[in-house]
Amino acid sequence: MTQMKIKKAVFPVAGLGTRFLPATKAMAKEMLPVVDKPIIQYAVEEAFEAGIEQIIFVTGRGKKALEDHFDRSFELERNLELKQKDELLVQIQSLVPKTGTIVYTRQNEPLGLGHAIWCARDIVGDEPFAVLLADDLVKSQKSVLTQMVDTFDRLRASIAAIMEVDADQTDKYGILDAEPMENSVVKIKDMIEKPDPSEAPSNYAIMGRYILTPRIFDFLGKKEKGAGGEIQLTDAMKALLEHQPVFGYKFKGERFDCGDKAGFQMANLAYSMEHPDIREKLLDYIRDSILK
Ligand code: G1P
Repeated sequence: MTQMKIKKAVFPVAGLGTRFLPATKAMAKEMLPVVDKPIIQYAVEEAFEAGIEQIIFVTGRGKKALEDHFDRSFELERNLELKQKDELLVQIQSLVPKTGTIVYTRQNEPLGLGHAIWCARDIVGDEPFAVLLADDLVKSQKSVLTQMVDTFDRLRASIAAIMEVDADQTDKYGILDAEPMENSVVKIKDMIEKPDPSEAPSNYAIMGRYILTPRIFDFLGKKEKGAGGEIQLTDAMKALLEHQPVFGYKFKGERFDCGDKAGFQMANLAYSMEHPDIREKLLDYIRDSILK
């Protein structure tokens, strides 16, 4: 590992989005909008805010809209220009990062999150990197990844974002056995993917933000199947623990599970409240129709 600045971020975006069918039959789930931006754009903006210089999308079939979203659209730009919609034009143009900033690779088989990350190994190379799962959207003053990069600068080791979940929810997450270290940091002793509540070592769950040292690829490369018959990132991190310290970081912010219908609607509501023009109409509607 020759350098320690986090410059690359991996976005696993090959998932089929079955929980949102039929909406996701012909559309990538990452393109579902939270108010007026697709879910993926929030995560990409978060990465850039944290100083990331290269975005690595691990895609699959049916994700073309995602590539188009971050590319120029001359026809649309021309149209907005002619109609003098200058504000929109600037917004659309600012979506497109410099050539080469976004790299695409493909996960040819749906073998799990660990496998998706492993697919990016040659692009990441021998440097620490971030992983963002766009489904986990966090509303916060300072973005979660920025908080984690700051923490990485101090700890110089792999870190997973964590939060406490209800005890009956452990079978949805990677769960930690950990000991407190400092205010927001725990030192991970063990971790297990989606344990039954009766077997969970705690209610500290991993959320979709990670900073990983490149050593993780040694363990992902073993391609051992874990929970759900999939190659799990949690299992590779557990193996990494035997060789390097791994920490959990209790992030500051409100997390929305946009991979879940209720969580997705809550995210839309929370982000709508920040748009002055939507906020009042929505509040009126809630008062008049829902709370009556
Ligand atoms: C993945 C990880 C899990 C983590 C979760 C966070 O699970 O495997 O460890 O807790 O993301 O959202 P998934 O939601 O992809 O099943």
